[in-house]
This record gives sequence, structure tokens and C-alpha cells, in this order.
Amino acid sequence: INIRLAQISDLQSMQNANLHNLPENYQYKYYLYHLLSWPHISFVATTTYLIDYENENENDYDDDVSQFDIDTYKYKNLKLNQFSHNNPSYSNNNNKNEKIVGYVLGKMEDDAEAEDKTPHGHITSVSVLRTYRRMGIADKLMRQAMFAMAESYDAKYVFLHVRKSNRAAIHLYKNTLSFEVLKIEKSYYADKEDAFAMRKDLVFND
Ligand code: ACO
Repeated sequence: INIRLAQISDLQSMQNANLHNLPENYQYKYYLYHLLSWPHISFVATTTYLIDYENENENDYDDDVSQFDIDTYKYKNLKLNQFSHNNPSYSNNNNKNEKIVGYVLGKMEDDAEAEDKTPHGHITSVSVLRTYRRMGIADKLMRQAMFAMAESYDAKYVFLHVRKSNRAAIHLYKNTLSFEVLKIEKSYYADKEDAFAMRKDLVFND
């Protein structure tokens, strides 16, 4: 698994991973807004994808792969590039066939009306495809994003919201990354679920 900066060419795959994993879905332009405004703080986790034309075996696929992928794969004469361009889970950066298995989308808080003028970051969304979970990927993505926020934009702390029922994410933020719960925001989500608002101070030793 490789962690690298997210690029505009990754956005479709990121949006695809988001649609699979979270009820909070965003329009393409919202992802684009993040990358254009703060190009240094959003990351993707990738794995290299190999097409083995000789030993075709459907069992190699995990549950993140749709019937569309399998049908495409079966079409043996398809060129490698066509494969990656046609499939929203794959990108073809620097001629490497990569599958995006997770992402973190970050932004800097830019509300001119905000009380606190201290530069601070916001984690808009983080997600890892189901079969790649519990391997430390979200932990790595989060640390990269937080480090980059401090390095690139002098962020002093980072802020996020998480559903009260989201055990995995709450463990990640509270236990693994030492976020503190600031408050509960009642009916924060569209379906009226409460959110924990969480914060972590960014202090990095040189
Ligand atoms: N239950 C309890 N603890 C869990 C779970 C779980 N289901 N999943 C992971 N953890 C723990 C791990 O054990 C690890 O703990 P440790 O540091 O004590 O060993 C810690 O959380 C971090 O684990 P990672 O392997 O880094 O996390 P992973 O890559 O599996 O991703 C994530 C976690 C992003 C929450 C994933 O489950 C996911 O994509 N869920 C769906 C999307 C989602 O809920 N995103 C967060 C929404 S909130 C927001 O975006 C701001």
C-alpha cells in the first residue's frame, strides 16, 4: 500500500470509494474545490493492480470489485489503458495501474466569520474500502493529512465531525490519534443522527 498526494485525476475513484462507504456523499465539484484550494493536504492510499491474462481466476476478486470489473476483465483483448480509464476504481498515474483503496479529504477552515482566526484544518472525509480495513491505512492517511496541514498551511489544530454510532471511526480518532471530543452536535446529519465534534492539536517535533 502506497500513500501519495491526491490528484485531480483521482477524484472519480475517491468519489467512488465514498459512495461505497459513507452516507455523506458530495458532488464532484466539492472534491475539486478541496484539491484546487488546498492541493497539499488530501491523500490517497493505492495498491498496484496486475492483470494476469494467462491465469484468469474470478476468485482473485474481493467484494469491492463489481460485476462490471469482472466482465471487463473477461474481455481479454481489452487494452490495459482502456481498462483503467473505463473503471472508476482505477487510475492510471505515471503509467502505473493503481487501485485507489482509501482517501482522506482535507481542507483549511476558511470561514471569515469564524471566531477563531488561528489557522486550523478540517477533515472532510476519510474512508477505506472494506477489504482493506484494519491494516492501518486510515491511520496513515490521517497522519499524512494532519502533518501536511501543519507544514503547508501552519495549521495549529484539526477538527472533524463523526457519527455517534461510528465505532470504527471513533476508535481511530479517539484512541489511535488522540483526538478529544469537544461537544455533541444534536441532529447534525441529514438523518438526524448526532455528531461528535472532535479536535486535535497539531504539535510536531522536528
Ligand atoms: N471497530 C473497532 N475498532 C476499529 C474498527 C472497528 N470496526 N476498525 C478499525 N478499528 C481500529 C483499529 O483496530 C485501529 O486501532 P488501534 O490503533 O488501537 O490498533 C484503529 O481503529 C485504526 O485502524 P485503521 O486500520 O487505520 O483503520 P481503517 O483503515 O480500517 O479505516 C475507517 C477506518 C476509515 C473508519 C473505515 O472503517 C471506513 O472507511 N469506514 C467507512 C467510512 C467512515 O466511516 N469514515 C469515517 C467517517 S467520519 C469522517 O470522515 C470525518
